[in-house]
Amino acid sequence: MVFDNKFGMFIHWGIYAQTGIQEQVYARFDWDRERYEALRETFNPVNYDPEKWVLLAKEAGMKYICFTAKHHDGFCMWNTKYTDYNVMNTPYGKDVLRMLADACERHGMLLGLYYSNPDWNHPLGYNPNSTHQWKAVDKETVDTVGYREYVKNQITELLTNYGKIYTLFWDIPPRIDDPSLNELARRLQPGILINDRGWDKGDFSTPEREYRAAEGERFTRMTEACNSLGRQSWGYRENEDFYSYRHLVSSIDRIMAMGGSYLLNVGPDGLGEITEEYASRLRRIGSWYNRMEGCLESAEGDSFDYSVRHDPCIVNRKNGKIYFHLYNSASSSAVDIKYFPHKPTRVRLLNTGEELAFSFERLPEFFNGKTGRAEQEYLHITGIPIDELSVEAVVIEIEIE
Ligand code: GLC
Repeated sequence: MVFDNKFGMFIHWGIYAQTGIQEQVYARFDWDRERYEALRETFNPVNYDPEKWVLLAKEAGMKYICFTAKHHDGFCMWNTKYTDYNVMNTPYGKDVLRMLADACERHGMLLGLYYSNPDWNHPLGYNPNSTHQWKAVDKETVDTVGYREYVKNQITELLTNYGKIYTLFWDIPPRIDDPSLNELARRLQPGILINDRGWDKGDFSTPEREYRAAEGERFTRMTEACNSLGRQSWGYRENEDFYSYRHLVSSIDRIMAMGGSYLLNVGPDGLGEITEEYASRLRRIGSWYNRMEGCLESAEGDSFDYSVRHDPCIVNRKNGKIYFHLYNSASSSAVDIKYFPHKPTRVRLLNTGEELAFSFERLPEFFNGKTGRAEQEYLHITGIPIDELSVEAVVIEIEIE
């Protein structure tokens, strides 16, 4: 199965960005309501220029953006008529989602929306079936039906007023089955892809952070993995503990080679800027991603047992070419493939774009334990400048006759 998978930018941005702590600072550090909600009185992101965000995503090879329209705090980043707790009622006073949607449209960037089911501001936001309810306004009143009306109204605004919407990212499963919400979304945006954290199973799965399960196996369902550039937070964090370049590139290569999309998150600061700390990391990852020449997108799986030696490897195919993804880099300058049932005509290292030498050879390292002789011919690919590439997923393209 070929999935139309893509590399995308997750953006967590809300009034919490001003604190430089975390998107759930309200709960994690148990702020009182007054203190938290006062953040809207100072929200004035004068440096907000969504054009810059979109161009940065584009530069990194990303094809879509997923933006937090509403996070658990309940604060709405668009001009909604269903609550005053929204961006129009801040010193900034502009519909930041509208500005982002326009910038995406101008640059052919797809736009997805994140919407949190937990809502720490709406009077009916409490849902005893679900998690992340810490700051719910009223834990006595349970009216998830009433709350669902609010959600439907807001989803209608979001999916009507902001042009074409590519994905809907519900967050935190409500553990209430109500297909009418996704039906509404599909009616308003035919073709929209909906995740599995909402009111029914949706279209795609959402492994988060350190996804390890079924490593190397191809996804059987449409999947979008997500992770943030930093460990502690999705929203802007001063002194964030950033993941290494190696760690993220390896994870992106692995997930995408398995057929998944990858949503990599940044947290713009309280003034609206993706600071250099975040942006430079993204650019570096993008420089690797762009060298992969699109081989991670819409490829098909290859289940043949090639028995690649030494390094974990995922194999896929696109346009008749075969790609070997050594997602944890390679441990030596050669790659040895035990079974290769085709005739290679050209082998290229995508990291550098250069051709690599190859031959079918008996190698002294691989001998028959009984005879002591090297009997099997391996496809032996050599000349990988491995000391320069030890921090990158190494990808080898093989053209065959
Ligand atoms: C978790 C967190 C939330 C974040 C989300 C991203 O659900 O609670 O803060 O937005 O992951 O997938």
